[in-house]
Amino acid sequence: MSESLLFSPTTVGPLSLRNRIVMAPMTRCRAVHANQANALMAQYYAQRATAGLIVTEGTATSPNGAGYVRMPGIWSQEQVDAWKPVTKGVHDAGGHIVVQLMHTGRVGHRHNLPKGAEVLAPSAVAAPGEMYTDAAGMQAFAVPRAMTSSEVETARDEFVSAARNALAAGFDGVELHGANGYLIEEFLSPVTNLRDDGWGGSVEKRLRFPLEVAQAVAQAIGGDRVGIRLSPYGASVGMTAYPEIDETYQTLVARLVATGIQTVHLVDHSSMGAPEVPSALKRALRLAWPRTFLVCGGFDRLSAEAELSEGRADLVGFGRPFIANPDFTTRLAKGLALTAADGTTFYTSGPEGYTDYLTA
Ligand SMILES: Cc1cc2nc3c(=O)[nH]c(=O)nc-3n(C[C@H](O)[C@H](O)[C@H](O)COP(=O)(O)O)c2cc1C
Repeated sequence: MSESLLFSPTTVGPLSLRNRIVMAPMTRCRAVHANQANALMAQYYAQRATAGLIVTEGTATSPNGAGYVRMPGIWSQEQVDAWKPVTKGVHDAGGHIVVQLMHTGRVGHRHNLPKGAEVLAPSAVAAPGEMYTDAAGMQAFAVPRAMTSSEVETARDEFVSAARNALAAGFDGVELHGANGYLIEEFLSPVTNLRDDGWGGSVEKRLRFPLEVAQAVAQAIGGDRVGIRLSPYGASVGMTAYPEIDETYQTLVARLVATGIQTVHLVDHSSMGAPEVPSALKRALRLAWPRTFLVCGGFDRLSAEAELSEGRADLVGFGRPFIANPDFTTRLAKGLALTAADGTTFYTSGPEGYTDYLTA
């Protein structure tokens, strides 16, 4: 067998990773108290620290951005302190960890949000369907309130303070959640952005929020500690493709180069039922990106090695396999069988289906 690239060390900005395996961000809803991380979460991440890099679950930048039930946040000092044992546990085990900064935008419900928070989005366009709340079970998505331009600026600034908080909590960096239909993608897409002010109305203006967030966060904490996750052609919570989608992502990635951010994380959710990201678009984005290119979605050992050896990526993310295989990295290296994850405990609270999966 030819030499493994997946298990070879690499660098990402200032970080020296021991392999090119990334644990993909996964919401697990275990932050049962006040949107704070806790000892159970610290155990979960430390168990998985043999990944070269962990990207945490989506973590709210603001009370308005904490639309999911039991979702952690990183806007307050208490939350920063609560994350410290998580980052320490991963570092003590020789791993690296960045936090995924997420504002849920229209994908929220008042029952899930902290007191006084509000479901805000670029435009008053409700997501289709329902979401789970602890207080009242499944609830239809409400029509979000369209942000004023000063609220847009506030949301941008909340990403910046959350990024500063991330470093204070001991994270190695941040990933901006620009994927899966949340606030950043809601600005990008004409499906959810119907604005006709400076933040919408043309491809150029729809790019403004993602670019300003990336620029401001890079300025605040150093671009080499910043990445962004993108999901063109994603079908999460009502997102759909649109005629100028390729142009939108190609222009976005080309413009992101100047912000100095380190990583573009491209996710293809065709393994989860979304349309495939056209390979021409993947190629164009990869070619346009001069720094770390991370891909994710449906990979196994063979396809991940091919992705690296054929130059389509520098790092490969794995999501679901990490849920039921805390030692996924070792199992992959040794060719050991993988345990199947139990989907019924993905978003419950407590250790069951979270920290109680065994190593091989
Ligand atoms: C339980 C679960 C929670 C997820 N939560 C997030 C999230 O918080 N942020 C995100 O960007 N993607 C999230 N995803 C998507 C994963 O990061 C990943 O892209 C997806 O699972 C495809 O990769 P895989 O085929 O290796 O599982 C989630 C996926 C699962 C299964």
